[in-house]
Amino acid sequence: SRPKPLAGRKIIVTSGPTHEPIDPVRYLANRSSGKQGHSLAAALAKLGAEVHLVSGPVAIADPAGVATVHVETARQMQAAVESLLPADAAVFVAAVADWRTAGSAEEKIKKVAGEGPPALQMVENPDILAGVGHHAKRPYLVVGFAAETQDILKNAAAKLSKKGADFIVANDVSQDSGIGPGGVMGGDRNRVRIVSKSGVEEWPELSKEAVAARLAELIAERLKTTVV
Ligand code: C5P
Repeated sequence: SRPKPLAGRKIIVTSGPTHEPIDPVRYLANRSSGKQGHSLAAALAKLGAEVHLVSGPVAIADPAGVATVHVETARQMQAAVESLLPADAAVFVAAVADWRTAGSAEEKIKKVAGEGPPALQMVENPDILAGVGHHAKRPYLVVGFAAETQDILKNAAAKLSKKGADFIVANDVSQDSGIGPGGVMGGDRNRVRIVSKSGVEEWPELSKEAVAARLAELIAERLKTTVV
C-alpha cells in the first residue's frame, strides 16, 4: 500500500460559517457550506494525518476518520482551536463572522408596534487565524483562505503578513467568477490561487474535493522536511 506522507502529523482545520446570536432565536450567519473545509479534513486524514476539525454549524456530515468539534460562534471556534495547540499545521477554511452583536439579548426581542426595528450594536470578533499565526505555539505551517470579490491577489498578499500565514488560498466569490450555480460559497466547485511569499500559483477550476486533495498534497510536501 502507498506510504502515508502525513502519518504522525497533527493538523487543525476550521470549516463552515459561524453563527453569532442576536437573541435566543435569531443569529447572524453567512453562506459557507463547510464543503471545502470538510473535504480538506478528509483529504488530510486520507494522507495519514491526525486531523482535528473545528466546524461551525453546517448541514453536512462529519468526515470519516476525523475528530470533529462542533461550535457556533467565532469565540467558541477560537477557544476550540487554541485548546488543540500545539499542532504541525493549521488550516483556516471557516468563514468566520467578522462581527458579533455587542451582547445578545437574553430574551427574544419583541416587535412592538410603532417602535421600529432595534438598532444592533456590533463589535469585532477575534481573528482566529491571526491569533494562531502569531501564537507562541504557532504550528510549523499556517494556511489561510481568502474569499474576495475584488483585488483578490492584492488582498491575499496583504493577508499573508497581517495574519502570519505561510500561504493564502485565494478564491473569487464574486457573482461573475464564472463558477456557477450558487457560486463558490455553497457550490461544489472552486477555482483558487495559492499566494505565498514566493509568488502566486493558479489552479484550474476543480471540484472542492479535487482542490482539497491537491492542497493536502501541498501541505504534505511542505511538512516533509520537518522532523516528526
Ligand atoms: O480577513 P478575512 O476574513 O478575509 O480572512 C480570511 C481568513 O482568515 C480565512 O482563513 C478565515 O478562516 C480566517 N479568519 C479567522 N477568524 C476571523 C476572520 C477570518 O480565522 N475572525
